[in-house]
Amino acid sequence: MAILLKDNEFSTLQKLIFKEVGIDLQDSKKLLVQSRLLKRLLFYKLDSYLDYIRLVQMNATERIEMVNLISTNETYFFREIDHYEYLQKEILPLHPFKAKFRFWSAASSVGAEAYSIAMTLDKAMARNDWAIVGTDINTEVIKKARIGLYPEKWADKIPVSLKKEYCLKGRGKHEGQFLMDRGLVQNMEFKVGNLMKYNTQVGLFDVVWLRNVLIYFDDNTKQLVVDNVIKNLKVGGYFFISLTENLNMIKTPNLEVVSTSVYKKVR
Ligand SMILES: C[S@@+](CC[C@H](N)C(=O)[O-])C[C@H]1O[C@@H](n2cnc3c(N)ncnc32)[C@H](O)[C@@H]1O
Repeated sequence: MAILLKDNEFSTLQKLIFKEVGIDLQDSKKLLVQSRLLKRLLFYKLDSYLDYIRLVQMNATERIEMVNLISTNETYFFREIDHYEYLQKEILPLHPFKAKFRFWSAASSVGAEAYSIAMTLDKAMARNDWAIVGTDINTEVIKKARIGLYPEKWADKIPVSLKKEYCLKGRGKHEGQFLMDRGLVQNMEFKVGNLMKYNTQVGLFDVVWLRNVLIYFDDNTKQLVVDNVIKNLKVGGYFFISLTENLNMIKTPNLEVVSTSVYKKVR
């Protein structure tokens, strides 16, 4: 027998998820939420979403499971290639190499963005000169990012020369997959992190990418998240959002637009 998510239950879940991670679940997502959470009801042998809500309200671990199922983690290598070109042509040549070039992929999902940046940085500078941190609210994607193992199909987006150099073709039980070069992985750290809170653990960065996540937030949350993230950007550092996103409805007095969806922190 199907278990239906009632309107009032969905409304409670919308509020819960908004409070937990800022994701503004639209009403049109009701069936999606119903189907994504159904496996948790079956796991606990619950008869209703109301019982699941009660459980989630009392159980922080289950709230993590819920967020893992609700968050949308779509990503791919070298997504929005213009940003990689901007990084290569306009930012890296200016880096004084006095200190390590620190990069934050905030909302990293399974790490395709962070590894694309890693390959780009590794071609442009010595291995010791760069470091990347990836963070995401979803604990499962962070586990995957740390491993760096992807379906072979995902490599289609990686330039051939980089693929040859940094992607190890899987054999045996890893047939049909590729593993990111272990040398790159040594310079990278993936951590669970909630953009709703100022991240005091990751330090200051030369560049922060916050791409394809602002779309899930309302304007107030966008403001909060951008304010938080910008605190971790060095003055003179660069902040990228997706080419399909904008900061029109929020205040960013410390940022100056330098290119489409690219900002510089000026004070
Ligand atoms: C669509 S993916 C974008 C991945 C990558 N930045 C890209 O552009 O390909 C959005 C990611 O944001 C994460 N996310 C959503 N809300 C978050 C929050 N409050 N804190 C941290 N990460 C969050 C999701 O778990 C998801 O992995």
